[in-house]
Amino acid sequence: MDAAHTASTAPILILLGPPGAGKGTQARVLEQKFGLVQLSTGDLLRAAVIAGTDAGKAAKAVMEAGDLVSDAIVINILRDRLAEPDCAKGVILDGFPRTTVQAKALDALLSETGQRINAAISLEVDDREMVTRISGRFTCAGCGEGYHDSFKPTTRAGICDTCGGTDMTRRADDNAETVGQRLDAYHAQTAPLISYYARKNALKNVDAMGDIARISKDLAALVAHATA
Ligand code: AP5
Repeated sequence: MDAAHTASTAPILILLGPPGAGKGTQARVLEQKFGLVQLSTGDLLRAAVIAGTDAGKAAKAVMEAGDLVSDAIVINILRDRLAEPDCAKGVILDGFPRTTVQAKALDALLSETGQRINAAISLEVDDREMVTRISGRFTCAGCGEGYHDSFKPTTRAGICDTCGGTDMTRRADDNAETVGQRLDAYHAQTAPLISYYARKNALKNVDAMGDIARISKDLAALVAHATA
């Protein structure tokens, strides 16, 4: 099988949902289970901020305010990452697209490689729980595993279950005030993508309230069907 053929049949999955819906948590589970690559534009932007690139400098204040980074910056970052060889296995897009402009740019990118979107999965949640979820979130700096003070604590206090690391971080934009702005940005600019993908017959809905393991199971069944 040549590289072009591999790329054209590799699954493309999109996780849609407001901040705190569980996109990152569930993308990591699906990545392991299906051998796909989690591609989070939030993580790529945070890496650009730390690296001090031009894109990172432009994104920093916007992210801290809870607004969306410009389409041009995000599309460039996504396009470059998607072209890396590991993405030929297939990707789970976590946090992209977030605007109609980004969705159309993704359609154009995929048409160049002959790929298609297997499913755009909307994680259905109650906004009121999202502030609680986000304010309790912390992440292992070593491997990126995500945790929650109450809903997903580490088994041994302060020690990552996955890699044994002890350096845990909390995001600068994970505070009640910024979360409100991020939720507003989601409803104004990203929620319209639910009907965008419904019109393309690519939309799937998953109840993303309740037990994390139950949601993973529902998602796995859906992804197995969408990628069969
Ligand atoms: P990004 O990093 O994508 O953040 P987000 O969309 O706000 O989403 P989160 O990472 O906060 O939530 P999540 O859904 O991944 O939830 P998680 O699984 O961690 O973006 C950050 C910023 O970057 C944006 O505000 C914007 O500025 C910019 N940006 C990124 N992409 C962009 C784009 N395409 N265009 C423009 N700008 C862009 O779960 C949250 C917590 O809840 C965790 O602690 C977890 O353990 C817990 N949890 C998960 N599931 C459950 C459950 N079922 N029950 C209880 N707790 C749960």
